[in-house]
Amino acid sequence: MGCTNRNLHKTGLVADKAMVVTAHPLASAVGAQILKRGGNAVDAAVAVQFALAVVYPDAGNIGGGGFLVLRQKDGSINALDYREKAPAKAHRDMYLNGQGEVIENLSYKGHLAAGVPGTVDGMVQAHEKYGSLPWTDLVQPAVLLAAKGFPLTQKEAKKLNEQRKDFLQFNTQRPEFILKNRWREGDTLRLLDLAHTLERIRDKGRAGFYEGPTAALITAEMERGKGIISKTDLANYRSVWRTPIAGQVGVYRVISMPPPSSGGIALIQLLTIAQDYPLKDWGWNTVATSHLMVEAERRIYADRARHFGDADFYEVPVKGLLNPAYIKSRMKGYTPKKATPSEEVSAGVPPLPEGPNTTHYSIVDAQGNAVSVTTTLNSSFGNKVFVAGAGFLLNNEMDDFSIKPGFPNSYGLIGEEANAIAPGKRMLSSMTPTILEKDGKLFMVIGAMGGSTIITTVYQIIQNVTVHGHTMQGAVNAGRFHHQWKPNWILTEWGALGPLTGAGLWIKGHKIAPKYGGIGRAAGILVLPNGKLEGGADPRGDDAAAGF
Ligand code: GLY
Repeated sequence: MGCTNRNLHKTGLVADKAMVVTAHPLASAVGAQILKRGGNAVDAAVAVQFALAVVYPDAGNIGGGGFLVLRQKDGSINALDYREKAPAKAHRDMYLNGQGEVIENLSYKGHLAAGVPGTVDGMVQAHEKYGSLPWTDLVQPAVLLAAKGFPLTQKEAKKLNEQRKDFLQFNTQRPEFILKNRWREGDTLRLLDLAHTLERIRDKGRAGFYEGPTAALITAEMERGKGIISKTDLANYRSVWRTPIAGQVGVYRVISMPPPSSGGIALIQLLTIAQDYPLKDWGWNTVATSHLMVEAERRIYADRARHFGDADFYEVPVKGLLNPAYIKSRMKGYTPKKATPSEEVSAGVPPLPEGPNTTHYSIVDAQGNAVSVTTTLNSSFGNKVFVAGAGFLLNNEMDDFSIKPGFPNSYGLIGEEANAIAPGKRMLSSMTPTILEKDGKLFMVIGAMGGSTIITTVYQIIQNVTVHGHTMQGAVNAGRFHHQWKPNWILTEWGALGPLTGAGLWIKGHKIAPKYGGIGRAAGILVLPNGKLEGGADPRGDDAAAGF
């Protein structure tokens, strides 16, 4: 389904106290159940992460990674980085042949595309620091879903059928996902190997994945498929608590993910630029508004390509990139009259620091704690490789590195030194799990899937609510467009900009490329003026809000 511009003011599910919005109704139900039992937002996030690994295998995962942004009811904030890491045997040129050319698909499909998974360690760390219910109670719903089976939605059945060829080509043993030749809506999918793996995680926590039988199954899979993730890589993996990126934009405080995501910084840059222009008067998705937004995106994505990478390995000029004068300076050359050719735009030079198929879920608990999580295998069904005997898919996150300077990854994104491969380094991300405050109070929990389009999806949804007055659901429904500097075109959902806006942009010199099937999928929760919560579940997928 594409955009639904007719429903910009439709109200989503409204709940009195607590809410969960995820990409799958069964995962939302699991999260809401945990909240009803008195669990907090982090408890619910852990349960949802494991449930999504069963019912939404395109992106829900234990073989991938993600980011969690938290705002507690007392206003304190934190961010957990459980992004995958390059294995110790990884090296800068690992996807190039002897002539220095990129070997097609090597960073994208198959065993070599996988980074060391971070999800299970991330969930353990989140639970240890903030959880209130027993760990076993949070993993058990996923164990039951996998062991008893669950009905496939029409969209999931279709996606599994589309993946069949890749599942056959890239696996060393036949996974449970291809036991049937053709899946149909309502078919029950039981995942017994995955159920046993989840039982080990339930009973042994971190050790149930990074040691013992699960680790042995992962390394055996790597040996059969000529991958490079080793026992030591697994034993060494640790997620990291990081200071969130936080910035005031007008009356809103934006709290989001720092590097190795580019999302938080880029989002604040885009929102800050928008402040300087009367977008409300110009109107929603008009020529003037969309031209301004695209011109800002073009410049900010040029910065992304040059300056962003894993800050543990490369000095990302965070303060410089967020410096208001620098952000303003990026719009140099902008004219309301015509598009700036991308060739004329390059990354800025931010001032030096003073001195030295992803999925998103949003949760607010009955106490007012909020969690925003984006988690991923990278593309849909990751590298297509199941760990035989363990029943879960591995990620293809290595493709998020710049595998050769200037060579586009699967999202068309390019990068340079900042995001080159190095052992133990985390690949640059666009994931943007975000929480907004207004007047010091929780205002919105938002995030999206969609690779490079995540940042602009989150940007547009925030603008839709805060500038154009849409409801949470309406803002999520609304048609989207995206520009990332290179390639030099505006990607739009079918009908998102309308014929008049499209023609107006074309006259200014923009190229427009339609994106069938939708841009990004978002999950948002808005705190309404009466204190109730409105969910925004994306109609582009099976997404659902649940609350009470
Ligand atoms: N794998 C998509 C991202 O992290 O940006």
